[in-house]
Amino acid sequence: MMDKKNPYFHSVVLYLVYFWRIIKWLFIPYSSPRQNRGKNMESDPINVSEFQELARQVLPKMYYDFFRGGACDEFTLTENIKAFQRILLLPRVLVDVRNIDMSTNLLGYNLSSPIIIAPTGMHKFAHPEGEVATARAAATCNTIMVLSFASNCTIEEVASSCNAIRFLQLYVYKRRDIAEKIVKRAEGNGFKAIVLTVDTPRLGRREADVKNKLVAPTLSNLEGLLSVAADNVVEAVSGAIPVLIDGGFRRGNDIFKALALGAKAVMIGRPVVFGLAAKGEQGVSKVIEMLKCELELTMALIGCPTLKDINRSHVQTPRDQLRSLM
Ligand SMILES: Cc1cc2nc3c(=O)[nH]c(=O)nc-3n(C[C@H](O)[C@H](O)[C@H](O)COP(=O)(O)O)c2cc1C
Repeated sequence: MMDKKNPYFHSVVLYLVYFWRIIKWLFIPYSSPRQNRGKNMESDPINVSEFQELARQVLPKMYYDFFRGGACDEFTLTENIKAFQRILLLPRVLVDVRNIDMSTNLLGYNLSSPIIIAPTGMHKFAHPEGEVATARAAATCNTIMVLSFASNCTIEEVASSCNAIRFLQLYVYKRRDIAEKIVKRAEGNGFKAIVLTVDTPRLGRREADVKNKLVAPTLSNLEGLLSVAADNVVEAVSGAIPVLIDGGFRRGNDIFKALALGAKAVMIGRPVVFGLAAKGEQGVSKVIEMLKCELELTMALIGCPTLKDINRSHVQTPRDQLRSLM
């Protein structure tokens, strides 16, 4: 046995410490935290915030920060969530709401609800199965998955893993020939549409990722206050094309508000990765189903048996409140 007086003792200890750190760095994000999924949460999560908390518990801080965080002071991130809280719901009563129908048709695809999966990169930071698990959940929930261009799983892996309706997100590339190749690959693998991200001329500075020294394509704050702009976009488009909106949807009643403002469907980003981190494919399905249940309840309480019944008169925005004072 080596004792502390032995001149080699400290070097051996240091060597072991570094060895352990390397092992931890290489393997632990993909193993032990996940074996402890939900250890500190007494019951199964029942809303998006609880899934977020569970994701926080199971993920290494670096990855949790990546999924949770936003750019700079995270003003937009916070504002996207708060924006919905400033919109009031205006219920109708004595409406027959025994059967609520949330099904919809988006660009020719029949979906069980107007909730689809937004493109978010790096799903293997959340779960070893990555985007394949997310796509399977999309198929189970009969919804669309928008695969991020910054995904860990390839177009082919996602395509061969399930029959979810899949779109591919792309950025605008100077090299049009590269874009063309990717689009052809996606088309050949049954992807049905391209979702073009146009608000990223430069990458946003995600300070948590900088501090954590996260080595990954750093993504900008792409959400950009869409929730407050929904009214303007819907007005400008005046029914010519379906308007989809994302950023800050954490509750079914947020989704109801966006639909009342004229959106055809909403896309959810972080809630999906929180579900994936917390409980893999099942977690993603659960998050989508929970939001569907919340939307269904909101529709019943506001007096809208179908999505077609939801309209602008069911919400009051801060702008409406100002107008009513003038
Ligand atoms: C971790 C992370 C990765 C993202 N990756 C992409 C991406 O690769 N492409 C893209 O167009 N948008 C990306 N986004 C933006 C999302 O599509 C979506 O706009 C954003 O998450 C807002 O929705 P949320 O509040 O539901 O998260 C990403 C967002 C996050 C948080």
